[in-house]
Amino acid sequence: MTHVKPLLGSLLAGVCGAALCATAVVADAMPPEKSLSGVQYELIGRDDIYSYKALDSYQQAPFLDALVAAGKLPPVKDRLPKEPVVFKTGAMVDGIGEYGGVFRHVIGGRPEGFNWLAGQHQGWGGINMAVQECLVRQGPRWQVKAEEQTGPLPNLAKSWEWNADMTELTMHLIEGAKWSDGDAFDTADVAFWFNDNVEDENIASRITAGSFGGGAALEVIDDYTFKFVFPSAQSNTVIEGLAYIQGCPGPSHLLKDKHPKYNSSARYDDYLNAMPSDAVPMPVLGAWVPVEHKPDEIVILRRNPYYWKVDEAGNQLPYINEMHFKLTTWDDRTTQAVAGTGDFSNMENPGNFVEALKQSQDPNAPVSAKFGPRTLAWRIELNYAANMASTEYDKELRNLFRNLDFRKALSHAIDRDAVGQALARGPFAYPYMGGFASGSPYYKAEATFFTPFDQASSKEILAGLGLADTDGNGVLNLPGTGEDLVIDMTYKAQRNDDRKQIDAVTSQLAEIGIRVLPKSVDETSFDPMRNSGDFTAILQRANFILPTRETCGNLPVSDICPAFHLAGAEGRDMLPFEAELGELVTKFTSTDDAALQAGYADRMQTLLSENIYNVGLVQVPAALLVNKRVKNAHPGTPVFMYEWAEDSVIRERLWVPADQQIGELLQGTVAEY
Ligand code: GLA
Repeated sequence: MTHVKPLLGSLLAGVCGAALCATAVVADAMPPEKSLSGVQYELIGRDDIYSYKALDSYQQAPFLDALVAAGKLPPVKDRLPKEPVVFKTGAMVDGIGEYGGVFRHVIGGRPEGFNWLAGQHQGWGGINMAVQECLVRQGPRWQVKAEEQTGPLPNLAKSWEWNADMTELTMHLIEGAKWSDGDAFDTADVAFWFNDNVEDENIASRITAGSFGGGAALEVIDDYTFKFVFPSAQSNTVIEGLAYIQGCPGPSHLLKDKHPKYNSSARYDDYLNAMPSDAVPMPVLGAWVPVEHKPDEIVILRRNPYYWKVDEAGNQLPYINEMHFKLTTWDDRTTQAVAGTGDFSNMENPGNFVEALKQSQDPNAPVSAKFGPRTLAWRIELNYAANMASTEYDKELRNLFRNLDFRKALSHAIDRDAVGQALARGPFAYPYMGGFASGSPYYKAEATFFTPFDQASSKEILAGLGLADTDGNGVLNLPGTGEDLVIDMTYKAQRNDDRKQIDAVTSQLAEIGIRVLPKSVDETSFDPMRNSGDFTAILQRANFILPTRETCGNLPVSDICPAFHLAGAEGRDMLPFEAELGELVTKFTSTDDAALQAGYADRMQTLLSENIYNVGLVQVPAALLVNKRVKNAHPGTPVFMYEWAEDSVIRERLWVPADQQIGELLQGTVAEY
């Protein structure tokens, strides 16, 4: 069937002698990978990007002068914190900016709601990062030199320190920052986020208390100081869990009254919808505040007059007054960026690559496209929670999924080259085996098990499992219930590339007698569906680059993580390798030793790929498209590395020269509460 190849032989050397390994049934080595990336950039120090400092004087976007004069806003110096974040001119490719204009995003998502504390999304594509600010920041780390990669960058937490045995992390908040409605931001907001959301099991928060540092507790020390107390020694790595959508406080002055703990007539459903998608504005800490939402049309954000970041000349950021998020499709994001009617795209739709590349080569094109490493990877998630199945049929199916041989049969049946070509003709796609995508700093081909396309093996395995087409209709029958082997596979309706892969997988699995029933779900309601665990299988893109980012989506770190293996009332019915995966996450976050971490990551990669925890499909690179009139978009910014490009490109310091600015739809306005 399958056999050992030399690369993996060396990986296994510690556990078996050459003779034994030669007969063991494992998989092939990964095929060679061809890189498409060609961007060179200079790496800088952590503190070269920004620091916290009081300046002698501050300026604001000129249109705010009238609002201050009319008494509608306090003077800029009173709106800023004691020591604002100061972006350094030396790290800005085009230097200090000019105020004004519009930045035009195009997105395929639709805001679910603005209560991100309760896990709601805002439609993705960067609205989330325009409104949410988190304790720490990961995006700009792609530019930091290796010797200064000592963890995430500061943000709302301006500094932190550990106790001697690394069990207590004390964090210091920026002092005097304000929400966009003028309310003070302080540890009351942090305590509400953590104690009443992360730790509340009724709330599907994006990090869970159990997964963060093995069960941290939060203690407030004063208005601007708090500490996390961990049950075991941690490292700087654990702090990464406090970035993007995970460690981002919300306006407790508004939300507290709507939370069941503080309001006996409030229910959790009401709390979830405490900041509905159409009730704008709401108080944010982000650089822009949503002020208008026309469903299926546009979300418009205006500058936050209380934003707590400035440039070295004392100009309050952001430079750009207005942000548009046109609500269309993800493909349209690339189409409009290439056409010049949108300003930005994470070109991640392989279906557009060839055309976009061709057009961007024209010197007059509004954008140019440069590919980064492969960080976008698609996979099938099988539901392993047999003990939570609601029907006999589901139970039998999930038990089959739990069987490694069955997963091998699936993996061998998938022709990944054909899946890749269905997405985009050309050298873009590379087989993905689950685990870290190849662009991850933690990916190693040698640690990855490859199951080659080999449907004869699939058929042999399935027969060995007692699966036969007993009624002659071309579909295998389950040995227990005798019913046809049909896998409902859910995917996001708005994602064309996902649909193309569903089509390819459906026909490839049909060839081995497995029927796939594609089920599309609207992207807005996709997360709640997945979190509920009420699905058979999901095909979706995974962004698995770091063990510490969206850990809950990928690894068994708590009862509700990952959603494809929820713990039932009697606990989680663990697959043999899952406990070790969970332990590896704990080991990984409890050391700052890069060599040790790499070793843990290799082991994770091996466990994930040899056990086919998810059935990987293909992985592709992406190219960032930013309109050429937009300044300070640093060349080389990756679409996705430590974080999505909307964070990495540092939008608060982007600017457009006045003569190239696009007219603002809501000129002169700021959010009013
Ligand atoms: C979606 C998009 C990504 C990126 C993120 C940001 O997932 O597909 O390209 O814009 O949103 O959250």
